[in-house]
Amino acid sequence: MRTQVCIIGGGPSGLLLSQLLQRKGIDTVVLERKTKDYVLSRIRAGILETGMVDLMREAGVAERLDKECFVHDGTVISYGDEHFGINFKDLVDRTVVVYGQTEVTRDLYAAREAMDGKIVYNVDGVVIHGADSDAPYVTYTVDGTEHRIDCEFVAGCDGFHGVSRQTIPLTVRREYEKLYPFGWLGILSETPPVHEELIYASSERGFALCSMRNENLSRYYIQCSLSDHPGDWTDAAFWEELKRRIPTEAAEKLVTGPSIEKSIAPLRSFVTEPMRWGRLFLCGDAAHIVPPTGAKGLNTAASDIHYLYHGMVAHYLDGDSEGLDRYSEKALARVWKAERFSWWMTSLLHRFPDQSEFDLKMQQAEIAFLRTNHAAQVAMAENYVGLPY
Ligand code: FAD
Ligand code: DHB
Repeated sequence: MRTQVCIIGGGPSGLLLSQLLQRKGIDTVVLERKTKDYVLSRIRAGILETGMVDLMREAGVAERLDKECFVHDGTVISYGDEHFGINFKDLVDRTVVVYGQTEVTRDLYAAREAMDGKIVYNVDGVVIHGADSDAPYVTYTVDGTEHRIDCEFVAGCDGFHGVSRQTIPLTVRREYEKLYPFGWLGILSETPPVHEELIYASSERGFALCSMRNENLSRYYIQCSLSDHPGDWTDAAFWEELKRRIPTEAAEKLVTGPSIEKSIAPLRSFVTEPMRWGRLFLCGDAAHIVPPTGAKGLNTAASDIHYLYHGMVAHYLDGDSEGLDRYSEKALARVWKAERFSWWMTSLLHRFPDQSEFDLKMQQAEIAFLRTNHAAQVAMAENYVGLPY
């Protein structure tokens, strides 16, 4: 098989890139290790920046999103029984939308299928060859049969555990990582959201987040220990703990019900540099991970795709390779700012096991400053709605 851009990974990054390129007449093949149903069963991000929404529109996949998404003008931050709002609309005249990653992926799969886009599922043993040469190719097996795709470029969109990043030699690759001493236990339940906006809650029992997918689908998270397993937590224990971490007013209103999904995610900050090696480009979680506080994971993947898409289009349609040459530099400049914001929000709102009384006072002072200081609120709002591409 031969294609122009071989895309490793059929998550949101790979599908969005494939859809955008194909609409400009650039041929792609997507290689996905799992099945479509498996990819769609993963419950992940819920908040989209307008930059990501614009990219979905450009890809021609925003029809359902435009109809079904919920626009959020702001968010609530609580600490103990106190709470205050950060109104993005008033502060920076921008908003975010609620539309789950599952729906984004579903829409992208539908669009790829409608355009006869080539996606190969259940691939095993993907190897990228000659990424630093003029003739890269990718080999893989399906049901034990080996296949080869010759291509002009490879896009590594295969997430944190993929092979693309590992293809870059250690003499070239530099990695930066911070692990946090806690995880997030998340549940999805068919209950109305407790509040019309998200509530990010700092409490002495740890962090909690009240989020949603639609008017009868709620997503809640609580900070948990890294040694916890989802099975350790009954639904009743989860609800009880959540109630103890959010303001009383919200706890009294909370509608509980059976969980339809329950999982634990560890929290990590991670960046690999560079994001390009020869004809291989890394995008999304393959290159960087943020802790989820601040909802930047999927949105930062989208900004990578924006830079790579425009670089590819300029290369193929105008013979201008500057965008591709500067891809790593441009993507990383934005990635590091998203890393900073996610690290800051995580540090602000969680309880750390080794936190001293002084550290706690600093956290409280920072929250109090944010509550009353316009400039601090503007800085938070600018980052939350998404820095410009
Ligand atoms: P992925 O979604 O990881 O997609 C990569 C794809 O590549 C997968 O489908 C995988 O099966 C495939 N793949 C992997 N290896 C190979 C291989 N060798 N060959 C072929 N295919 C391969 N972000 C938020 O903003 N909010 C959240 O609440 C949130 N929750 C999260 C919870 C979890 C458990 C995780 C892991 C992430 C979460 N994120 C969240 C982050 C967000 O979901 C990611 O940033 C986003 O999925 C990145 O998209 P991606 O396409 O780059 O990577
Ligand atoms: C969601 C996840 C986040 O990490 C976040 O900051 C906001 C919302 C969510 O899954 O809905």
